[in-house]
Amino acid sequence: MQPFLEMHNISKTFPGVRALNRVDLLVRQGEVHAVAGENGAGKSTLMKIMTGVQGADPGGKILIDGHEVEIRDPVHARALGISIIYQELSVVDNLTVAENLFLAREPVGRAGLLDTRRMNAEARKVLERLEMDIAPTTRVGDLSIGQQQMIEIAKAISYESKIIIMDEPTASLSHHETVTLLGLIRALRARNVGIVYITHRLDEIFEIADRVTILRDGSTIDSLPIGDITRDILVRKMVDRELTQLYGTHASHATDQVVMAVEGLTLRHAKPHGAKVRDVSFQLHRGEILGFFGLIGAGRTEIMEMIFGVRGYTGDIRIDGAKVDIGTPGDAISHGIGFVTEDRKTQGLVLGMSVRENFSLTHLEAYSPWQFIDRAAEARRCEEFVRTLGIKTPSSEQRVINLSGGNQQKVVIAKWVARGPRILIVDEPTRGIDIGAKAEVHALLARLAREGMGIIVISSDLPEVLAVSDRVAVVKDGQIAHVFSRADASQESIMQAAAG
Ligand SMILES: Nc1ncnc2c1ncn2[C@@H]1O[C@H](COP(=O)(O)OP(=O)(O)OP(=O)(O)O)[C@@H](O)[C@H]1O
Ligand SMILES: [Mg+2]
Repeated sequence: MQPFLEMHNISKTFPGVRALNRVDLLVRQGEVHAVAGENGAGKSTLMKIMTGVQGADPGGKILIDGHEVEIRDPVHARALGISIIYQELSVVDNLTVAENLFLAREPVGRAGLLDTRRMNAEARKVLERLEMDIAPTTRVGDLSIGQQQMIEIAKAISYESKIIIMDEPTASLSHHETVTLLGLIRALRARNVGIVYITHRLDEIFEIADRVTILRDGSTIDSLPIGDITRDILVRKMVDRELTQLYGTHASHATDQVVMAVEGLTLRHAKPHGAKVRDVSFQLHRGEILGFFGLIGAGRTEIMEMIFGVRGYTGDIRIDGAKVDIGTPGDAISHGIGFVTEDRKTQGLVLGMSVRENFSLTHLEAYSPWQFIDRAAEARRCEEFVRTLGIKTPSSEQRVINLSGGNQQKVVIAKWVARGPRILIVDEPTRGIDIGAKAEVHALLARLAREGMGIIVISSDLPEVLAVSDRVAVVKDGQIAHVFSRADASQESIMQAAAG
């Protein structure tokens, strides 16, 4: 069958970066075509060219249905039958679910007025098809990130596209939502829609894809049917170097000394769709990595946001034995708490600033013992982190907005770690991070624990939680259901406690 979409010889150069180098990609209708590659390999850039968000360098060509086309912009791409779900969410917080779904193509009634009733009814149909139990009139800002992501997906589906591109669609979805999405992809495939699927979760590639194209450093390495490749070979083609063993042996560095004790923590005001967190008590030791597992929406993030002064709480927080009052993130930081948030777009980074400026934002005073800032020391330290975490950027002066998604996440981690907090909370630290860099992040957390930091790791990736944690707290319906010792923690016991 003739491919619906053909991209030949596509290159893209940014100042100091060759993002794509003569890439080919052929996508057929009715196939799920995975695109795999490390952070910064060029996956998102290729998709932006496919949807007219960015133009390619001269020399390549794009064919749709056998005809050469020039894709001018996303609206044009959509008219040609191609739509995309972006890696970074693009829903509008202040609008309702229905308004987001029909943004810029709202049904208009006879008098030229917006037909809200019809819009809500249409939206309800789309939501039902996705098995989403959300009212069309809900403000999107009140939904969880996972729910917001599903709204994005609903939007693309409602365009009736020939090809839908999904750039890491499941990164912030719960297990249940992921299963729903994969089912939906199968249904779309059966209706002859082509899906371009980008993910760092390799299991998903083997579960859903018919074909995989591998990019490395902006070049096409291979493209083959999924039956012709194993997981090991896929990783080798993506990475092309020896990997630090993922999930190596675990050594605990936990001490007896309690660095933080939380007692009866209860959320003052719960979000309409958020978990009602109440009566949470636990202790964190120096040198300990305490995992927090729970289904999305269980309240893990809310617990950490209370500790970090983002949300009001009642109850006690003690640090090194002394009761503290945390009303703002500034209070938390001055008590030695660092927080790598799950949502880097809104809380983690200033996208318009450079890697170096973002990096030192949390600990600028470290470089200004007197009046002026020691830029050389700041730059040296930043370079050091860029190297350890393998942040792919032409220089530390690059604006963060120009980094790939996974590399932005690494900057968030670097800026908090560099501050040297006594307590570090990391929420979904390896979301969107490729398989090689994941091992590097885990090694970094282990090293920090050995140096005496108390670390809380929230993750929806159960193998990750089991691999890095000394103990695992399971959160369910806003409360800690159980705390497992390492010896008692297994996939089954934890899932049981979380879903119960
Ligand atoms: N607007 C831009 N200006 C400068 N460099 C850019 C720009 N957009 C992307 N790049 C660079 O191009 C390269 C490819 O980035 P891209 O976002 O396509 O990677 P990716 O494969 O999607 O990675 P990830 O898995 O982390 O999302 C990276 O080195 C990135 O920093
Ligand atoms: Mg990307």
